[in-house]
Amino acid sequence: MSLRRIGRLFSAYRVALAIVIAIIVASSIVAMASPFLLRAVIDNALPNQDLRLLVWLVAGMLAVAALTSAFGVVQTWISTKIGQQVIHRLRSDVFAHLQRQSIAFFIRTRTGEVQSRITNDIGGMQSVVTSTATSIASNLTTAVATAVAMTALSWRLSLVSLVVMPPAVYLTRRVAMTRRAITAQRQRELADLNVTIEEGLSISGIQLSKTMGTGPSLVARFTASSARLIDLELRSELAGRWVMASMSVIFAAIPAVIYLSAGLPMTAGTMTIGTLVAFTALQSGLFRPLMGLLNVGVSLTSSLALFARVFEYLDLPVDIDDPQSPVEVNPALVNGHVRFDDVTFAYPGGTTAAVAGVSLDVAAGTTLALVGETGSGKSTIAALLARLYDPSSGRVTIDGIDVRDMRMADLASVVGMVSQETYLLHTTVRENLRYAKPDATDEQIETAARAAQIHELIAALPDGYDTVVGSRGHRFSGGEKQRIAIARTLLRNPRVLILDEATSALDTETERAVQTAFDALAQGRTTITIAHRLSTVRDAAQIVVIDHGRVIESGTHASLVEDNGRYATLAA
Ligand SMILES: Nc1ncnc2c1ncn2[C@@H]1O[C@H](COP(=O)(O)OP(=O)(O)OP(=O)(O)O)[C@@H](O)[C@H]1O
Ligand SMILES: [Mg+2]
Repeated sequence: MSLRRIGRLFSAYRVALAIVIAIIVASSIVAMASPFLLRAVIDNALPNQDLRLLVWLVAGMLAVAALTSAFGVVQTWISTKIGQQVIHRLRSDVFAHLQRQSIAFFIRTRTGEVQSRITNDIGGMQSVVTSTATSIASNLTTAVATAVAMTALSWRLSLVSLVVMPPAVYLTRRVAMTRRAITAQRQRELADLNVTIEEGLSISGIQLSKTMGTGPSLVARFTASSARLIDLELRSELAGRWVMASMSVIFAAIPAVIYLSAGLPMTAGTMTIGTLVAFTALQSGLFRPLMGLLNVGVSLTSSLALFARVFEYLDLPVDIDDPQSPVEVNPALVNGHVRFDDVTFAYPGGTTAAVAGVSLDVAAGTTLALVGETGSGKSTIAALLARLYDPSSGRVTIDGIDVRDMRMADLASVVGMVSQETYLLHTTVRENLRYAKPDATDEQIETAARAAQIHELIAALPDGYDTVVGSRGHRFSGGEKQRIAIARTLLRNPRVLILDEATSALDTETERAVQTAFDALAQGRTTITIAHRLSTVRDAAQIVVIDHGRVIESGTHASLVEDNGRYATLAA
């Protein structure tokens, strides 16, 4: 399947690969001089006591050794570099490709699985990619050159040595197939292990397991998974070892057979002692490259399982992507007129629509408040506007342009969202804020923090804005995190704001202050607020009540109270 595709990964390095192969060929040819020098030593220089010739021959042997070692160093250097480059490209491509996947992909994929493919699978390919090409080339040329030299020395003895080849090749193929199956299984098991690590040892996971008392069962799951891995590793190693061991015996038997055949009348012929010694020396030199080739075959075949898993990720279609021919929009000039036209959306695998036939019209610069019971679909509506999902039918437009016709980057700078969950990176508060706007000055960052009512708190931290937060640093409370998220969004300065219960976790005093900041920010911007407590949405130009994904009421606070429907009940 993917052999050609693996080859294509290397195609950018054609020249470097050609150099490597040239070095290998040159080095093998040079190395082939050795046995002939040896034969001359034994057959000519020693018996004739020709000291001059002997010195020359020995010097030649040393030169050959020095030259081949030097070639080896250069060759390893170039080929390792190529291998690392290929892995680097692959790893970056997978990361970039997954980054483009929609939220739906991450929801259906287990946490830990992605990590496992990037680290375990690509990591496993690393050694194969680095060593395979050069190993094939060097072993093949050595083997061929040795074989040629053997034939030149004595074709009869060469034939004798050849008999071991067919069983060796057959056995290796069997090992390769077994290992390939085991490798696929092992990588799946590794991914499982990663998932357990993620679920058991991440901050949220450990909290859940501590409060639920599931520690022991997680440990049991991990232990079982780890034990299965041992088993797989053992089987994978052993699958090769016995066969390889029996093959070393076969190969070791060759010199014995050669001495035997040298003494037999029909094969002995006119062989000199020098030829015999040189031949056995050569023959043992043939053993290593041949075993090497067979081993490369095994590891290459079993690594196909790794490649398959990585290619599978590279081949994932991107379901939410930049349009073919995007409408040119200047985010700075967008008015922010948001419309939902009869939008229906069901989550992948969901049986009922989370949003059904919703039509909304939010004039540029006005505020729309979405209210409704939990699970009614408010966050989903917000997600559709930010194009985290695409509607199953209907359309979402900003200034009359379908969000699907905008570049994702443009949309992201037009629509800003403070979501129900805030993710902080493991870095300083300052960098967390700057994530929203990489070129923000420290001053702008502080202004945003002040507006979000979080400046005092940050300033009071041990290192102020340079305090490390996130996965392992200072941990903000829920309300503090939300204010960080608000500051981030303020920095992005989007035309369209989505506030998904942004103020729900703030105490009354702070909430009022943040609300003031937001009211100022909302000036001239289109704002969609989602809040459970109706006190915060009272002043919205338009209030829409959502129930089971549908709009059931809309109007202003006064008109809805007047109508005495669902809103009036909620507000009472
Ligand atoms: N990723 C998902 N896959 C499948 N169903 C989902 C997914 N996310 C939400 N839902 C379902 O879609 C419906 C609407 O969810 P949504 O998050 O929009 O509700 P909400 O109005 O924001 O609720 P809350 O007020 O509690 O935040 C719910 O029934 C929920 O279970
Ligand atoms: Mg919600």
